Amino acid sequence: MNKPIGIFITGTDTGVGKTVVAAGLALVLKERGMRVGVMKPVATGCFGDGKRLVSEDAVYLFEAAENEYAPLTNPLRFRNPLAPSVASVIEKKEIPIEKILKAFKELQRHYDFLIVEGIGGLLVPITKEYFVANLIHEMGLPLLIVAKGGLGTINHTLLTVDAAVMRGFEIRGIIFNRMPRVNFSIAEITNPKVVHDLTGVPILGTLPDLEDVDVERCRFGTLREVFKERVELDRLLGLQTVS
Ligand SMILES: Nc1ncnc2c1ncn2[C@@H]1O[C@H](COP(=O)(O)OP(=O)(O)OP(=O)(O)O)[C@@H](O)[C@H]1O
Ligand SMILES: [Mg+2]
Repeated sequence: MNKPIGIFITGTDTGVGKTVVAAGLALVLKERGMRVGVMKPVATGCFGDGKRLVSEDAVYLFEAAENEYAPLTNPLRFRNPLAPSVASVIEKKEIPIEKILKAFKELQRHYDFLIVEGIGGLLVPITKEYFVANLIHEMGLPLLIVAKGGLGTINHTLLTVDAAVMRGFEIRGIIFNRMPRVNFSIAEITNPKVVHDLTGVPILGTLPDLEDVDVERCRFGTLREVFKERVELDRLLGLQTVS
């Protein structure tokens, strides 16, 4: 069996839970004894002074995976919460794609498995002519799609799957995030099956809204236990193709 080398976590939108899912995966893989690396190639909306910008996403991932190479985890940072191509113009800072790819290759050497969190969705421009999808192509990683559970997600998820399939990406599966534990809407009950029936893409799990999980406060709470319980890990890793 080939050694799994990593996964690229994309979302149907910004704010759908990519960081939470990436951290959940890191926590579970670490528990399995794997050396897990994490990467947020470009982060916008960072805090701190001009010289030392910090990404909340990168800190969360870094803490979950207990990594050692902060500059490789998050090579490019911007203050403005915008698409990277726009933040880069406003902040007059270039985006050298080769710096991202160099950090990626170096992290791959240090770890058994690399979890890369995307920026927004597949067609977010990193530069004017280079999109998140271009980065996925160059990294050569399979995709995990994070989607929200409620109304609107069928359209967003199908658009994301279409864009991925058109580019020949391998999609390992979809995770629906922030499902309420009680008082489900009809959309939330039916969406996973509808999306599976329309795309054929495996639904790897649904994560509930967890009160003790918070990216901004760097709280993991019950994330590892719930992720283990609710997500089909072997299928996510490509170790099992038929459920
Ligand atoms: N299952 C969950 N339970 C509770 N809170 C959650 C859950 N998933 C995400 N959140 C919260 O929702 C917010 C957005 O989640 P997250 O940061 O993971 O999204 P994202 O897709 O990574 O966003 P971005 O596009 O900014 O990187 C965060 O405040 C996070 O703490
Ligand atoms: Mg994030």
